[in-house]
Amino acid sequence: VPVSVIIPAAGTGTRMGGGTAKQFLPLRGEPVLVRTVGLFSRCPLVDEIVIAAGNLETTRQLVGHLPKVARIVPGGQTRQESVWAALQAVHSRPRIVAVHDAARPLLTPEVLEGVLCAAALHPALVVAVPVQDTIKQVDDEGRVVATPDRRALWAAQTPQVFWADVLVRAFRQAMADGFSGTDDASLVERTGVPVRVFRGEPGNIKLTTPADFRAAEAALEGGA
Ligand code: CTP
Ligand code: MG
Repeated sequence: VPVSVIIPAAGTGTRMGGGTAKQFLPLRGEPVLVRTVGLFSRCPLVDEIVIAAGNLETTRQLVGHLPKVARIVPGGQTRQESVWAALQAVHSRPRIVAVHDAARPLLTPEVLEGVLCAAALHPALVVAVPVQDTIKQVDDEGRVVATPDRRALWAAQTPQVFWADVLVRAFRQAMADGFSGTDDASLVERTGVPVRVFRGEPGNIKLTTPADFRAAEAALEGGA
């Protein structure tokens, strides 16, 4: 089954601060984007990689030459718009599309291969981990509204993997309805297509703040 990978890498990293977008910052000497794209370049199940970029020139220089990088397209104002731009550039009517944040360089090949294999059976999969903390639902005034049963709560990560037609339909419907979600699966959930979690690893963090960056450097130091 042909597999296309979409990497949204067009964010500006406001929560990270600093002048350079986080995907271009070196993580133990290697730019985050190079680490992330390299993971998919080396995965034997992946056929092509499409990247949504803000800075096309820098992105081309860093990863344009890596195996399987097929296209680098301009991203949009939001992550959702960036993924949609890349989805339209996905080639050859692939049957499976995996979406993975550029800002998650610590995904392991084991989880990646596992979720891609599972996509043969399931139309929509979210790599996720059970939450450790008790989660409170809170209103605008800070009042706790509910404490959902923790055993039913998972923290969504990426990759999120879909049959291509399912994802395209979900994006079209979301745009028609003016719906915006913070991940791709939330768009698919609205269409009624069943979405499943695929258990990942807590280490697959998204680099959001400087503290995440330090944690990722420490994790790499311990591992490799
Ligand atoms: N992203 C994107 N296009 C956007 C916004 C985000 O492709 N318009 C990408 C980011 O580059 C990142 C992923 O989506 O790889 C997850 O987004 P996030 O962690 O929020 O990154 P930023 O939007 O860059 O950071 P911030 O929200 O702090 O500004
Ligand atoms: Mg953002």
